[in-house]
Amino acid sequence: MKGKVLLVLLLITLVLAALSYLVAINLDLMPVQASQRAELVDSHFKQVLGISAFFFFVVEGALIYAVIRFRRKSGDDSDAAPVHGNALIETVWTVIPSILVVIIGISAYQALAAIERRPVDGPTIEVIARQFSWEFRYPQAGVSSPTLHLPVGKTTLLEITSEDVIHSLWIPEFRAKRDATPGQISRLLVTPTLTGSYPLICAELCGAGHASMVTEAVVHEAAGFEAWLAESAGKPPDPVDLYVQYGCNACHALADAGANGVLGPGLDGMGEVAASRVPGVGAREYILQSIIAPEAYLVEGFPSGVMPANFGEQIPAAQLEALVDYLLDQ
Ligand code: CUA
Repeated sequence: MKGKVLLVLLLITLVLAALSYLVAINLDLMPVQASQRAELVDSHFKQVLGISAFFFFVVEGALIYAVIRFRRKSGDDSDAAPVHGNALIETVWTVIPSILVVIIGISAYQALAAIERRPVDGPTIEVIARQFSWEFRYPQAGVSSPTLHLPVGKTTLLEITSEDVIHSLWIPEFRAKRDATPGQISRLLVTPTLTGSYPLICAELCGAGHASMVTEAVVHEAAGFEAWLAESAGKPPDPVDLYVQYGCNACHALADAGANGVLGPGLDGMGEVAASRVPGVGAREYILQSIIAPEAYLVEGFPSGVMPANFGEQIPAAQLEALVDYLLDQ
C-alpha cells in the first residue's frame, strides 16, 4: 500500500515537472529578437529556466510528500527517531546538480564564443556616453549622431567609453549590454538580424538625468545605412541634434526641441531673457558662459553642482557656436 502511494506521488511529481519544463521553454518572456546574440542568449536562458522549473517541482514534490507523510500524529509526544544522514541521497543530490552546472556552463561558453568570435564585417562605431546623452561616431565617414544606426546582417563593433561617470549601454532587443567606463574602451559586437528601431537605454544609475538617457538604435537595410551615412556626412550640425546629443534636453525644457526636462531652468524665450538677466553681460555671452561655466550665473531656485562643468571641453567650438546661436533664437 505504502509503496503504491509513493509510486503515484512520484509519477504525479514527474508529470508536473515535465509539464513545467515544457511551459518554461515555451514562455514568451522576452522582447522581439533583433540580433544574432538575442537568439543564442534566449535559447540558453530557456534551457536554464526549463531545468530550474523541472527540479523545482521534483524538490517541492518531495518536500510536500515528506511534510504530509511524516507529520506528528496527535497524542504522540515521543522524540523523533535520530537519523544521522543518508550517504546515498546526499551523494545523488550533490552529483546531479554538479553535472547540471557543468553542462549549463559549457552551453553558456559555447553561446558566448559564437557571439564574441565573429569577424567584424560591418562598421566600427565609437560610442561616447556622458551625463545625460549618447554620441555615436562613424570616424571613416566623419559622422556624429545622437542615435545609433546599423546595417542589418553585418557584425558591427561598438567601442564604448564615457566622458564622466560610469554608464551602461543596453539594447534589450539585441540582448546586449556593456558598461561605458571613463578612461577605458569596452568592445561590444552586435549583429542585427531585424530592421527597425529599438530603444537604447542607459542601464547604470549615473545621476539626476539617468532616466532620460534614452535614445534609439536604428537597423537599416545595407543600402539604407549607406544612404543615411552619406546624407549625415554632408550636413552641418543640426542644433536640435546637438541639444539632444549633449543631453541638454534631459534637464532643460525647450518646446522647439521637444524637451521637457525639469532639473534645470526652462529655455523657452531664452534670447530675450539672456539679454537682460545680468547687467552688463550681452545675451550671447550670457548663454555661452551658462553652458561652459554653469556656476557663473545660477538661476534662482536651481541648486549649484547639478549641471556638468566640463561642456567647454566636450563640445567642439563650431558646435558650441551653433548651439548658442540656436538658443539666442528661442
Ligand atoms: Cu547614464 Cu544612467
